[in-house]
Amino acid sequence: MSDDQVISKGIILAGGEGTRLYPLTRAISKQLLPVYDKPMVYYPLSVLMLAGIRDILLISTPRDLPLFERLLGDGNDWGIHIQYAAQPKPRGLAEAFLIGREFIGSSGVALILGDNIFHGTGLVRMLYAAARRARGATVFACEVGDPERYGVIELDADGRPVSIEEKPSAPRSSLAVTGLYFYDNDVVSVANGLEPSARGELEITDVNRAYLERAQLSVELLEHGFAWLDAGTPEALLQASTYVQTMESRQGIRIGCPEESAWRSGCIDRAQLRLLARRRGENGYDLHLLELAKRHGEPLT
Ligand code: TTP
Repeated sequence: MSDDQVISKGIILAGGEGTRLYPLTRAISKQLLPVYDKPMVYYPLSVLMLAGIRDILLISTPRDLPLFERLLGDGNDWGIHIQYAAQPKPRGLAEAFLIGREFIGSSGVALILGDNIFHGTGLVRMLYAAARRARGATVFACEVGDPERYGVIELDADGRPVSIEEKPSAPRSSLAVTGLYFYDNDVVSVANGLEPSARGELEITDVNRAYLERAQLSVELLEHGFAWLDAGTPEALLQASTYVQTMESRQGIRIGCPEESAWRSGCIDRAQLRLLARRRGENGYDLHLLELAKRHGEPLT
């Protein structure tokens, strides 16, 4: 974490019913399903860690929380602090700020959806820019072929946002708002003042529109070629696995690896990285960590 970082708390929203993945999600949370070689939640967790965020609240259903706790624990091994809270019903993304009100306290906060995977050039730079912004909100936008499925943001010629709409039938742009957001502390009162939408949810797009109306909404554009995947359907889940497998085997890297993110962002040192890798049996994941610890005396970033 750098000295000028102002947002050091983050929420992972990993509830929902995952109905589009039925029957896969009848007995287990979508965000615990595998994306190639790791549980899905590892990917968003790693993004928060790469942003220098060390204080994390994971929100899920009462049914699934014990499994998340078993998987992630209190974060101590990774030099972070993880807490847990329940969302009994999927009442919308913006409910995260009401459930997390005490966790947020007087800080700013990042929110990431538990089924969103980000990978590509410039991610760490954009994360740091967002985490350093003391006032307002930051969203991350990405060109998509089917904008009507998402929150859609329209920018003017200078790249400033002019409109934001939830799942519009006639989208004004092809820029989707992705599942990663940074807010100042006002987000709690903004969320508190929201009315549920026609589908009965507290909409994150309404939160973002409130910031837009105050001229306090910043947009980071994910570059051409950047991979933003959400693993919400069987096809998308398979595509995400295939993407991760291809990148990992071609480039000898690991995507969405919390131990590596902890080390790169300075939460743990090389000795701790080595210790974590040695603790378990022989598998490709831990061999990668051992190799990292062997090859590099100091973190790369
Ligand atoms: P969705 O994909 O919109 O919802 P879902 O996961 O329940 O899936 P489906 O549409 O197949 O029923 O949610 C996006 C992410 O946000 C996902 O990680 C679940 C999470 N979420 C919550 O945790 N609470 C909520 O109230 C909502 C609406 C979503």
